[in-house]
Amino acid sequence: MRRYHVTTFGCQMNAHDSERIKGMLESLGLGEAVSRHEADVIVFNTCTIREKPDQRFAAHLAQARALKQAAPGTVIAVGGCYAEAQRERLFDLYPYVDVAFGPGSIPHLADWLGVGGTGVARGRFGLDEREFAGELPMHRERAFQAWVQVSMGCNSKCSYCIVPAVRGREQSRRPGEIVAEISRLAREGVREVTLLGQNVNSWGRDLAPEIRTEFGELLRACDALDGIERIRFTSPHPKDFREPVIAAMAECAAVCEHIHLPLQSGSSRLLKLMRRTYDRDRYFHLVERLRDAVPDLALGTDIIVGFPGETEKDFSATLEAVEEVRYDSAFTFIYSPRRGTEAAAMPGQVPEPLKHERLERLVEVVQRIAAERNRERIGLVEEVLVEGPSRTDLARLRGRTRRNTTVNFSGTASAGELVPVEIEAATSATLSGRQAALVAA
Ligand code: 5AD
Ligand code: SF4
Repeated sequence: MRRYHVTTFGCQMNAHDSERIKGMLESLGLGEAVSRHEADVIVFNTCTIREKPDQRFAAHLAQARALKQAAPGTVIAVGGCYAEAQRERLFDLYPYVDVAFGPGSIPHLADWLGVGGTGVARGRFGLDEREFAGELPMHRERAFQAWVQVSMGCNSKCSYCIVPAVRGREQSRRPGEIVAEISRLAREGVREVTLLGQNVNSWGRDLAPEIRTEFGELLRACDALDGIERIRFTSPHPKDFREPVIAAMAECAAVCEHIHLPLQSGSSRLLKLMRRTYDRDRYFHLVERLRDAVPDLALGTDIIVGFPGETEKDFSATLEAVEEVRYDSAFTFIYSPRRGTEAAAMPGQVPEPLKHERLERLVEVVQRIAAERNRERIGLVEEVLVEGPSRTDLARLRGRTRRNTTVNFSGTASAGELVPVEIEAATSATLSGRQAALVAA
């Protein structure tokens, strides 16, 4: 049997795309190889959001090239955002790559790899196409959790970001299609879905007039489906977080008390240069409205340090914003200039050592506050969706709260079950506790 191996970089959208890629390869009769060494078809699903994933991919690709030299029949396929961004020169840079595909051309991968997975037509394929892969078979890691793509692309113009250039204009998937997919998933035993879009809460605005609707309505439609007990979504843009979505979050029992709400900077001056179209006060006001509507809300965020022109004063404003909002979690990034973006050409690029120093200072504040927030949970009983054995202690279990915190706990439950867990201890990233007796709701 021919075997494939897929390596995924980047965000949840890419992880989900990889499930489709794997599902499709399996439908062609290929089996999954445990490592790249045993694979006849080596696939990379790449990311290009910062320079680091580009570099990591290059190192992996060099290894694949060596494998191909030893076994010349090996097929190397490169998909995802880096492939799309480099479409003009990918085959010049890496002549041993056989197939290249963009995020919107996954449905055609089967044709390019050749029916039955035999023989490959070499060349550049479909990098400019845009199709939802919603009808493809899917190879999911977990039976009870699923990602569901609701839109592709992004119409924002954030000056640092390469995504609009690689994933194109925003295109919403039809509501009927999304609801049908989630109903199918629920029938297969899925209990938690995460709706995915580059700007998930602007979903719906580009639909044809007869079916035009908005994200709050989609949340309500998903909430009404039997069997789906947890609904998450990522990532929303603060500028598109309107009242109906907040109301839907407050009223839908299945929508989890967690929002990942990228701040990027706490300085209104920098937010303007970033073209985020909100300022610090508007963001704070949104957080206030969200917390009023959804008690016990957990907030996560993304923050960039070292954006061009960032002064000590701007950076301090970011630290203050983190103190003010008190995030439960935050992804922190060093600004990475991306070719062709507006910010890459801006004056005042911040020297690397200074960016690193600021990142360290930011991470310290983020972790201190996250630990404080998590310690507030000690003594509470949280509903946990069990994901499997704990990563550090196989005798214990691991799962996630509705507020999206990982919990390691002692107990007897099985993966996929929802159980109450009494929280006994906390760090900045995890909680720990023990399974509690089932309480009558
Ligand atoms: N440099 C650093 N971080 C970036 N992000 C997006 N573009 C860049 C860049 N050029 C971050 C943002 C975004 C997250 C997915 O990645 O914080 O929300
Ligand atoms: Fe990376 Fe962005 Fe593409 Fe996701 S959408 S894989 S984060 S470049």
